Amino acid sequence: MSVRLIYASKACDLQPTDLIDILHRSQHNNLEFEITGALSFFNNIFMQCLEGKNSNVNATYSRIMRDKRHTQLTLLSFEEISQRQFGIWSMGLVDTITHEHPLFQKYGKEKEFDPFKFNMEETRHFFAALQKETTLFV
Ligand SMILES: Cc1cc2nc3c(=O)[nH]c(=O)nc-3n(C[C@H](O)[C@H](O)[C@H](O)COP(=O)(O)O)c2cc1C
Repeated sequence: MSVRLIYASKACDLQPTDLIDILHRSQHNNLEFEITGALSFFNNIFMQCLEGKNSNVNATYSRIMRDKRHTQLTLLSFEEISQRQFGIWSMGLVDTITHEHPLFQKYGKEKEFDPFKFNMEETRHFFAALQKETTLFV
């Protein structure tokens, strides 16, 4: 069974090299476990989408949960899928350091981007739009 898992978390004391380190490690491990997805970082908040075999996604999420570089992990969506959304990215980083990205305005509640309050539908829409609208993957 293939699944898609999406969570949000708050970054802790992130050092300048941490993001690139997370990305490299993710890309390396995710290739091995056939996991695809995207990681967004904005306002000190991570949002990550992981897709793949149920057991692999769960094992990866368990490792990610223990990582001290973030906290308050909140599961936003978990569903069975028949098709991947991020089929070609072992882990794409959405460079959201540019603050005025329209997506973040659009999906912010009361002008404050707060994915911890997203329901499952908003969560899914956010990543679907991210995949379609952004060209900033690295
Ligand atoms: C926000 C965030 C996202 C991460 N995403 C992934 C990921 O997609 N895949 C992965 O293997 N590790 C990811 N990591 C890193 C893991 O927490 C962990 O450090 C890593 O999997 C350990 O790999 P290693 O045992 O090969 O050193 C992420 C960490 C953070 C903080």
